[in-house]
Amino acid sequence: MANPTKTILVTGGAGYIGSHAVWALQQAGYRVIILDNLVYGHQDLVEQVLKTELIVGSTLDKALLTSVFSQHQIDAVMHFSAYAYVGESVTNPSKYYENNVVGTLTLLDAMVNAGVKSFVFSSTCATYGVPQELPIPETHPQAPINPYGATKLMVERILTDYDKAYDLRSVCFRYFNAAGAHPDGLLGEDHNPETHLIPLILQTALGQRDAIYIYGTDYPTADGTCVRDYIHVCDLADAHILGLEYLLQGGTSTIFNLGNGNGFSVRQVIDAATRVTGKPIPVVEDNRRPGDPPALVGGSDRARSILGWDPQYSDIETILAHAWQWHQGRHG
Ligand SMILES: NC(=O)c1ccc[n+]([C@@H]2O[C@H](COP(=O)([O-])OP(=O)(O)OC[C@H]3O[C@@H](n4cnc5c(N)ncnc54)[C@H](O)[C@@H]3O)[C@@H](O)[C@H]2O)c1
Repeated sequence: MANPTKTILVTGGAGYIGSHAVWALQQAGYRVIILDNLVYGHQDLVEQVLKTELIVGSTLDKALLTSVFSQHQIDAVMHFSAYAYVGESVTNPSKYYENNVVGTLTLLDAMVNAGVKSFVFSSTCATYGVPQELPIPETHPQAPINPYGATKLMVERILTDYDKAYDLRSVCFRYFNAAGAHPDGLLGEDHNPETHLIPLILQTALGQRDAIYIYGTDYPTADGTCVRDYIHVCDLADAHILGLEYLLQGGTSTIFNLGNGNGFSVRQVIDAATRVTGKPIPVVEDNRRPGDPPALVGGSDRARSILGWDPQYSDIETILAHAWQWHQGRHG
């Protein structure tokens, strides 16, 4: 049962997944404080849709964190803030290790000093690297192939050590590809630069891009294009509420995959988007990109059995329809 008196600090709450989690927290009766440096976050959505307290600042700012934890009675932290551009993490790893690892460490130390013991963390399937089996279970070896994935794996390790030493309990969610938007069109994905397939496809449908590029058509998949697991952002948000309540009720630190369990190829997503939008979506077939595994699909049985997670929007057309509604409203 949600406790309306509990206050949750949400880092990165002005971003894509974080804003949907804030909405879900509010619906469940929690009080939310957002900490976001607005490097990629959207102040307008916080002010006009979420209407909750926004502290503009960084997880790297130790003095700010100390004051946030001393001025507010925080019961738990949901930590979404990070940089998440895989390609940039290869060319500028320093930026990623600093923000994603040092920023998280600074946050965790402020929590420990303030006696806050519950932490929900946004990890990623990128910690697995190239999968040896599909669907990928949580027990799969972790061997990230880029600095972004390495930063998340380092935080997972830090969390194990902080649990042992400081009794800081965590839920780590390894997301697959977050997609979709709030069904009411209130919130959605608005990254700049955008690198994710579904918004790129929808921008093409809106005529804002000339074509969508397919990188590799000769993969060992049914239609030769890469297969990915798209999980609706509201299903991710629901999992966060369940993970939070699990921790608040005394659950032990646990890692969960959050995926759809169904993979969709790039071509399948483009075909479904053509049906959903009713618009032509020109395609350019290009060479494979280095480091793209043929298929990434997650097994999320653990979240279903331990948390009782029951994703509502597994069908790709629904995910696309919600995203399309948002894109038309925001950028159309
Ligand atoms: N989008 C996905 O498919 C996906 C998949 C796996 C994991 N993740 C992880 O989920 C989290 C959220 O992803 P997203 O797609 O919502 O990203 P996003 O960029 O939309 O949101 C991240 C937010 O964090 C803020 N931020 C960044 N560094 C900060 C700092 N030091 N202090 C305060 N705020 C800071 C940004 O301004 C932004 O609002 C990230 O940790 C990401 O690594 C995302």
